[in-house]
Amino acid sequence: MSNVVVVGLQWGDEGKGKIIDVLAEFADLVVRFQGGANAGHTIGIEGREPIITHLVPTGALRPGKQVVIGPGMVVDPAALIEEIDMLQGAGFLSEPGRLLVSDRAHMVMPYHKLLDRAREAAKGDAKIGTTLRGIGPCLEDKAARSGVRLADFLRPEKLAERIGPRLQEINAVLDMLGQQRLRLDDVLADVAGQAARLEPFAGDAGLLVRRQMARGRNILFEGAQGALLDIDHGTYPFVTSSNTLAAAACTSLGFGPRRIDCVVGVAKAYTTRVGAGPFPTEMEDDRGEMLRRRGGEFGATTGRPRRCGWLDLAALRHAVELNGVDSLCLTKLDVVGGVDRIQLCTGYRLQGEPLEGFPATVERLQQVEPEYEQVEGWPEDDSLGSAREFEALAAPARRYVQKVEAMLNVPVDMISVGPGRNDTILLNNPFRRS
Ligand code: GDP
Ligand code: IMO
Ligand code: MG
Repeated sequence: MSNVVVVGLQWGDEGKGKIIDVLAEFADLVVRFQGGANAGHTIGIEGREPIITHLVPTGALRPGKQVVIGPGMVVDPAALIEEIDMLQGAGFLSEPGRLLVSDRAHMVMPYHKLLDRAREAAKGDAKIGTTLRGIGPCLEDKAARSGVRLADFLRPEKLAERIGPRLQEINAVLDMLGQQRLRLDDVLADVAGQAARLEPFAGDAGLLVRRQMARGRNILFEGAQGALLDIDHGTYPFVTSSNTLAAAACTSLGFGPRRIDCVVGVAKAYTTRVGAGPFPTEMEDDRGEMLRRRGGEFGATTGRPRRCGWLDLAALRHAVELNGVDSLCLTKLDVVGGVDRIQLCTGYRLQGEPLEGFPATVERLQQVEPEYEQVEGWPEDDSLGSAREFEALAAPARRYVQKVEAMLNVPVDMISVGPGRNDTILLNNPFRRS
């Protein structure tokens, strides 16, 4: 049996969805443990349109797998219902009982989305560039102990008591931000119908996962966002509002840290970021534009163009340490093809001195000077996309992978050379490592 956690090592969108879909074949359960509909995970199955999931674990696309929305997640009921309908319409998730949603997960209420939007608008140029999915305000309510968990949501008759006082406070803030107040009746209007739809999926997700662990099942934990968006260790305040690191799987579902057998870290062969915040290796020139075009770098949740830059090994080293990464997965190697010379950021300097660790403030991170090493590129051709073995990659592409491996001191066990399931070189299966 194995418990494998897959996490993003950059600012999200590393291709986790694609990789989790590949690994889901070997898992019995696929479990999301944090974040919410801010995530957009794209799965490419040969011969069909790509599918994007936001809340439902990617394992839903693999027949027979149990998929779980963990207690640490924040769930927008309307978005979840829409996603279940979309997946069922596409022929997935049709067996009853395949999806379990934790009754402890916090619900994203309409006022959370309204607050997210109003605050971002009020910040003007200083905005974080959130996905406007209400994630931050929902997690604020959770920490303030004013939140609505699925178990509460399923009892609409009790909900008025629970959210009435909170709505008064929220309305005061909305007033201050020049927005219209919300009426309790309007907030409650949709709840009963949504609760009836979600009730069959609700249950004790932590208990299920612990029981399945005890039975020796293979469990795949699906991370969302990336290490540099982690609320404690990322580029605060330009982060999301949850812990995005592998350890969050333990606190979300409720099991001990020693149960994790393998942490898989996913990194793109270059770097992207969507939303505001520091990005030391960003290229705001035609090379950045080239990566955006070749990599189709537009947000899977919001459609926003993603900012692009070279691979940042200084930031990746930090992300590897934060997660205790055992196994690396490098995605989108095909996108880097066709560049003569590739720049690799191997470290940071601050005021001329090499910098150890990762700066705590945005101001310091904006001052760092990335140190680059130039490596040889490889030709743009189809053979890289069709490579299914390491040896089939062009020699400079192999050297690029080996360089990343050596600089991070972690083996690259998977390489992705295209968006489809089959465009994958699996050198070492994390479920068979232990
Ligand atoms: P996630 O949030 O980490 O799951 O990543 P997203 O789905 O938001 O963004 C990754 C994008 O890259 C999606 O459009 C994927 O279909 C695509 N993708 C993933 N791996 C590869 C790859 O190796 N090559 C190419 N060309 N595209 C990829
Ligand atoms: P996946 O799982 C990329 C970013 C937003 C913004 C910041 C805060 O697809 O990799 P939030 O809405 O969470 O309050 O926004 O975090 N962000 C992501 N960027 N991929 C994601 O998820 C993201 N989820 C949040 O763009 O900068
Ligand atoms: Mg994404």
